[in-house]
Amino acid sequence: MNNVLILRAPAKINLYLKVINRRDDGYHNLLSLMHMIGLYDQLTLEEIEQGLTLRVHNSPLLPDHSNLVMQAAALLQQEMRSSGHPPKGATLTLKKEIPLAAGLAGGSSDAVATLIGLNRLWSLNLPKEKLARLSEKLGSDLPFFFDGPAAWVFGRGERVEALQLDLKKWVVLVNPGIAVSTAAVFEAFSAQTGLTKTRTPINITGTERRPKIEDILQNPKNDLETVTLKRFPQLHTIKARLKEAGGNRVFMSGSGPSLFALFENQEKAEAAARQIRQMYPDPLFKVWAVPLLQASPFSQFF
Ligand code: C5P
Repeated sequence: MNNVLILRAPAKINLYLKVINRRDDGYHNLLSLMHMIGLYDQLTLEEIEQGLTLRVHNSPLLPDHSNLVMQAAALLQQEMRSSGHPPKGATLTLKKEIPLAAGLAGGSSDAVATLIGLNRLWSLNLPKEKLARLSEKLGSDLPFFFDGPAAWVFGRGERVEALQLDLKKWVVLVNPGIAVSTAAVFEAFSAQTGLTKTRTPINITGTERRPKIEDILQNPKNDLETVTLKRFPQLHTIKARLKEAGGNRVFMSGSGPSLFALFENQEKAEAAARQIRQMYPDPLFKVWAVPLLQASPFSQFF
């Protein structure tokens, strides 16, 4: 029997998202509070002598190099080669549960699970910091997953400051089955607000810039929300339904379209989720009641 590992890759939500400015490279500097939640994809990794193969279940995602999992595995193989390790291969099986293009960073989490899993499977022993730096090459949301379950995220997403939030709440998460392009939302936000390129990088590490958690929970803020709500007006109705179901404050995650509200406990969250499911019986419309994670499933690997 070959060496096999199974990892759970959690989704994230943004409890707060402020766009600071547009950078010369076209990306935007952000200030965001991210939190892992108990909604997972599953990645199985099996060591083979050479090559990379990917199988994808429960998703139209292609099992080729367009998939971030394959890109992450290839990046690590390249890293092995350049540091003189003998080449190794893997068969990867990805079972999707997190919806695609949903503002939940499912693909980024899958790619981080790949880096962490292969680092263990291939006995590379690269430190967390090294893997996090490598992960930046694959996308802005990846570095967060090395420092969850909760963290402030700065810059393009590469500067992560872990946070002991201790927020024991449940999340009712709703995804209406619409795919949203993050790039298009940022583009529209820039055009709408007249954000221009700023040559001087701004420093936002001072604690005074980070809002208090109580304020964040009372007044949800996500700068990208106006763009996504304008594009998909049906989200207004879903927000109202979530409120009626007991979610006092409704948040949008990332560039959307996923919406969520926080609940005191599992029982209240599940009752609200049932109520929303009855209103939207369409099988493409997904509703979950999941906890805010109190520990990262990746922390056991470091
Ligand atoms: O980094 P990632 O590939 O996830 O980003 C997708 C797109 O979202 C980028 O091509 C960019 O247009 C936009 N983006 C941005 N600023 C960020 C993160 C993403 O403008 N901080």
